[in-house]
Amino acid sequence: KKAKLKLDKDLKHAEVDDRLFGGFLEHLGRAVYTGIYEPEHPESNQKGFREDVLELIEEMDVSVIRYPGGNFVSGYNWEDGVGPIKDRPNRLELAWKTVETNEFGTNEFMEWTKKINTKPMMAINLGTRGMDAARNFLEYCNHPGGTYYSDLRKEHGYPEPHNIKLWCLGNEMDGPWQIGHKSADEYGKLANETAKLMKAIDPSIELVVCGSSGRGMPTFPEWEQIVLEHTYENIDYISLHQYFENEADNLEEYLAQTEGINDFIETVVSICDFIKEKKGSDKEIYLSFDEWNVWYHSKESDEEIEPWQIAPPLLEDIYTFEDALVVGLMLITLLKHADRVKIACLAQLVNVIAPVMTEPLGDAWKQTIYYPFLHASKFGRGEVLQTRISSPEYNTKSFGDVSCLEAVAVENSSKDELTIFAVNRSRDQSLELNCQINGYEKLYLIEHLVLEHDNIKAQNTSDNPNNVSPHNNGDARVNNNRVISNISNLSWNVIRLK
Ligand code: AHR
Repeated sequence: KKAKLKLDKDLKHAEVDDRLFGGFLEHLGRAVYTGIYEPEHPESNQKGFREDVLELIEEMDVSVIRYPGGNFVSGYNWEDGVGPIKDRPNRLELAWKTVETNEFGTNEFMEWTKKINTKPMMAINLGTRGMDAARNFLEYCNHPGGTYYSDLRKEHGYPEPHNIKLWCLGNEMDGPWQIGHKSADEYGKLANETAKLMKAIDPSIELVVCGSSGRGMPTFPEWEQIVLEHTYENIDYISLHQYFENEADNLEEYLAQTEGINDFIETVVSICDFIKEKKGSDKEIYLSFDEWNVWYHSKESDEEIEPWQIAPPLLEDIYTFEDALVVGLMLITLLKHADRVKIACLAQLVNVIAPVMTEPLGDAWKQTIYYPFLHASKFGRGEVLQTRISSPEYNTKSFGDVSCLEAVAVENSSKDELTIFAVNRSRDQSLELNCQINGYEKLYLIEHLVLEHDNIKAQNTSDNPNNVSPHNNGDARVNNNRVISNISNLSWNVIRLK
């Protein structure tokens, strides 16, 4: 079967914000303890950070990392996680029913982000706490000195302010499961007052207000409308969260799920613009897709985990090859909306629904989903071109006719490169891609990376960590600025041109 793609150097869609390739680290399960932090591990440095894990994450070039939650943040006292480690309390952690030792906290996180050259995206607790804790925490992190909390930071060994620029006003406050769950009206008022206070302390910060926890939430999209009515002038981004699952084991429907994301994003954008017009504002609100991934494999086994353990193995989804295709499709979808989606965080980073897994005192390895993220983060920075696709389709129950080919192209002018990302959703038909590219001088192929596998349920495990991994033997060739390539059935492709 044939598919066509048309690209033109002069038809640009949007600049890609580097923060589209973000991650998420929550105090949940083994993400922190025995994930990134394990002082007893032979590969840990003096700070207790696992160097083998740092290396894998550094390679992903994660631009921003959301911390410390997630649901966890809505019950978190930031004060428990600063100061001498020996004095920090053990606490009942009510979001995930564990015991939090607080051995790792804000200052350790900031040191860890510097090791991998990434930026923090700090969430505050608007569940059990509110404006008062938020202002104290911001003063602790960002104020240079001469006040109670900034001097406390200095006393803790950090003379320079952390200067954290990006802050989340709570987490998933629309969700009944959230500690301190609120109505849109209650949350909107609180978020707005908190935003005013925080920007009074440091006007250079940017704030993300909570949108819906998923497109299927019963309060979507009124939630966004009400929250933005309250907060529009004092916030900068509104969040979106979405997790994908394949409980029904229906590959065709599963791969089509990212189609729903287009509607989700476009609806949130239109609400932002509606409120903008209504308020007669000049300000544009952007989107922060700050939790997204596949999450379902571990849900049943998590119910059997005894409560009140320290760092139990929660949400440890072992991903399959088909999951990697969904992650690739989502990255393409985010790039296609780069005009309004400025931040996106793969949830999460290590052990908990994560691209990187570890064994306590053992190895670290890459899950299947690691690769599409790695490729998009490495080669997807620059400017997105408008894409016109013509492709065979297949019919789905949930999304009607869905294109077998999904693709996007990004030009990186500083490296003089053009990269095409493409997924073939078809279970059994390979596609003969004919891509016409206008406006460039002679293009050459750098490489054609492919992630494919005979078994859609294939996984990477500690015993077989390279079972699903990319090769660069794709058959793309360039002829007169036309790229011809076979895009095999069920494959993720990265065609790199110069
Ligand atoms: O990422 C796991 C959880 O999913 C987060 O804690 C929460 O925000 C979301 O529901």
